[in-house]
Amino acid sequence: MPSAVQTDPASSWTGLDTSAFCFEAPHSPDTILFESAQGVRLTDAAGGEYLDGLSGIFVTCFGYGSRPIADAVTEQLHRLPFNPPLHGTSRGAVELATQLVQLAPAPLSLAKLVNGGSESVEAALRLARLYHRERGEPGRYKVLSCYHGYHGATFGSLAMTGRPDTTRFGPGLTGAVRVWTPHSLARLSGLRPEEAGPQALALIERTIEAEDPTAIAALVVEPVVHLLGMAVPPPGFLPGLRRLCDRYGILLVFDEIVTGFGRTGQAFAADTFRAVPDLLCVGKGISGGYAPLAAVLISERVAPVLATGAASYAFAPSHTYAANPISAAAGLAALGLYRELDVPARVTRLSGHFTALLESTLRGRGVLRSAGLLYGITLTAGPPAAGDGEGAGGGLGQAVARACLRRGLIIRGEDDWVVLAPAYVSTEADLEQIAALLGAALDEVLGGGR
Ligand SMILES: Cc1ncc(COP(=O)(O)O)c(C=O)c1O
Repeated sequence: MPSAVQTDPASSWTGLDTSAFCFEAPHSPDTILFESAQGVRLTDAAGGEYLDGLSGIFVTCFGYGSRPIADAVTEQLHRLPFNPPLHGTSRGAVELATQLVQLAPAPLSLAKLVNGGSESVEAALRLARLYHRERGEPGRYKVLSCYHGYHGATFGSLAMTGRPDTTRFGPGLTGAVRVWTPHSLARLSGLRPEEAGPQALALIERTIEAEDPTAIAALVVEPVVHLLGMAVPPPGFLPGLRRLCDRYGILLVFDEIVTGFGRTGQAFAADTFRAVPDLLCVGKGISGGYAPLAAVLISERVAPVLATGAASYAFAPSHTYAANPISAAAGLAALGLYRELDVPARVTRLSGHFTALLESTLRGRGVLRSAGLLYGITLTAGPPAAGDGEGAGGGLGQAVARACLRRGLIIRGEDDWVVLAPAYVSTEADLEQIAALLGAALDEVLGGGR
């Protein structure tokens, strides 16, 4: 069970609101100081224990303390920790990029390695505008993205992010235009998301026409929308987006930072939902959490613009640590484990077990959505527990997530939803424990259910 952490009061400041995120300095006395971890369990500095039902934040798919990845990183650290990036790359980076492309569906045929998800979204945005410019359409600069989509914290990726709070930073990228998702429309119209799919497509097409199709460079989407509580796309929606983009000459970008690398039970959500984008961003789990790593995968359609000297020279300036040998070693070792464990088959098997467990845990207290080992639950409001329900520091989702944390279970909750993403190496017993702890938290916050 978790416990309060005692830290030096001189280095902490209780005036800081850490309910949303932690700051390193100053920090609140409530900040959890994680100390060590093994498998799917963490320990804090005060000896509190946590079961990780979120893989860190969709990252530690192979668990903590993975010897193959830690050994590969250690060996690389001793042999070549860094290489002059303006003068060459490393064997590991080349091998990793090659293997990532092999894992991805055709026609994704090129990979650019970066350090994190936001950087990979930035690279996709730059490539999208470059692509049209090089092909003689410099007027295509607008980028469509979804309300409620999350794409990162740098200015370009933030401009794609459809949360109202991003407007606090002032104007973002010129040409950022929002569209509605099927789930948002379903809420508005009372339809089921499956029924709202065609309506959302029709509305997006109207937006494209109203914004002038010849001014639009790209459409960026998360295949499964995290901040709507893992809104799984209705059948036909992503293939419908593919057709729309083709009709209007727009590049389709999938942000698979969360859904990529086996999370949905296939290598990419592009495989699961049968629509292949022109640019695909992948990150989080691809290093298993052992080094910062992400990539943008580039289709055969876009790749040729990088073959021309001036364009590739323009795109070349990268991040100092992009494609660094340590991250490449972590990524290659993670890919080795991906194949060894047969992740798609394993995720599909574990997902069947966990879905059944969650269904019986919910007992009418929520609506479950899943894609592989990625889960979202929209909570059905019950009587909120005194002082910890809706209106007390957030919605029902936060209340349930906090009740889980008090029991030593890490999940995420906001608004009326919670999300879970157990590690690929979880055992059936781990999943049973996650479901039991979640059930106890639901009992506390929502009452017993039916
Ligand atoms: C869908 C999605 N895109 C992009 C990002 C940004 O990735 P990073 O935090 O690695 O920059 C995230 C991070 O949570 C994400 O969930």
